Amino acid sequence: MVRTKTGIQGLDKALMGGIPEGNIVLLSGGAGTGKSTLAMQFLMNGASLFGERGLYISTEQDRDELMKAANNFGWKLDDLESKNLVKIAYFDITEGNDFLNRVDTLVQNFKPKRIVIDSMTTLTDSLMISGIGKKDAFSMVQIQETVSPIPRTEKVVAKSILYNLIKKLKHYKVTTLLTSELPEEHKALSADGISEFITDGVIVLHYLGIGSANFRNLQIRKMRYSSHEKDIISYSIASKGIEIQAEESLEI
Ligand SMILES: Nc1ncnc2c1ncn2[C@@H]1O[C@H](COP(=O)(O)OP(=O)(O)OP(=O)(O)O)[C@@H](O)[C@H]1O
Ligand SMILES: [Mg+2]
Repeated sequence: MVRTKTGIQGLDKALMGGIPEGNIVLLSGGAGTGKSTLAMQFLMNGASLFGERGLYISTEQDRDELMKAANNFGWKLDDLESKNLVKIAYFDITEGNDFLNRVDTLVQNFKPKRIVIDSMTTLTDSLMISGIGKKDAFSMVQIQETVSPIPRTEKVVAKSILYNLIKKLKHYKVTTLLTSELPEEHKALSADGISEFITDGVIVLHYLGIGSANFRNLQIRKMRYSSHEKDIISYSIASKGIEIQAEESLEI
């Protein structure tokens, strides 16, 4: 089994060495839980430790904002970009809806070993609104309707869009992290309630504020083709990014 190491000590151990190569993994969590940090760190480590090319598709923070975030953790994003090891692609979702074609062109040209889409939630929301997304989704729904009529609910449209997107991503055979916003107290594992079933893996990030103390923990909820740690894992966001807390410190 070839694995893609996150380069985050403790997380790779919990993943029995890393994410199985080619898996599409959902990284979900509430606001400020560290989704973008973990996703960026995955690409930074891939490039600087393993010489693997990483493509960061951002629908939320633009290039300048991502540079600011990387500098904050001391990551040499500009260096890695000039060495052609990392590419930032910012998609302004208010402009155009040619998302799938743009991703295709980027992947064919850049040939990444790692992909991040931050965030999947913004993206699917925008595809839902855009004409192309609707057209694709509706044509898929119509095919199914010839067999058995199903209501054209928003959920069906969203599901079709996600299937299309994830099918396309799987075809690349590139290890991919998709971030998904998860409101507090949300029962599902993704904002759409669908992607956790069609992705190969799910890692959920939690933030617990108790009095003046706060705790961050994550859980690998699913990782196809691999055994993995099932328990909750404590982590912190420190000056160099995500750090997994050693198990010993939990036993105090
Ligand atoms: N230098 C630092 N030291 C410690 N913690 C930091 C540092 N820089 C950022 N953080 C923490 O990281 C958090 C931001 O993480 P990040 O942007 O990755 O979260 P996110 O899950 O992507 O959030 P969003 O839902 O807004 O996209 C900040 O709210 C802050 O708590
Ligand atoms: Mg973010």
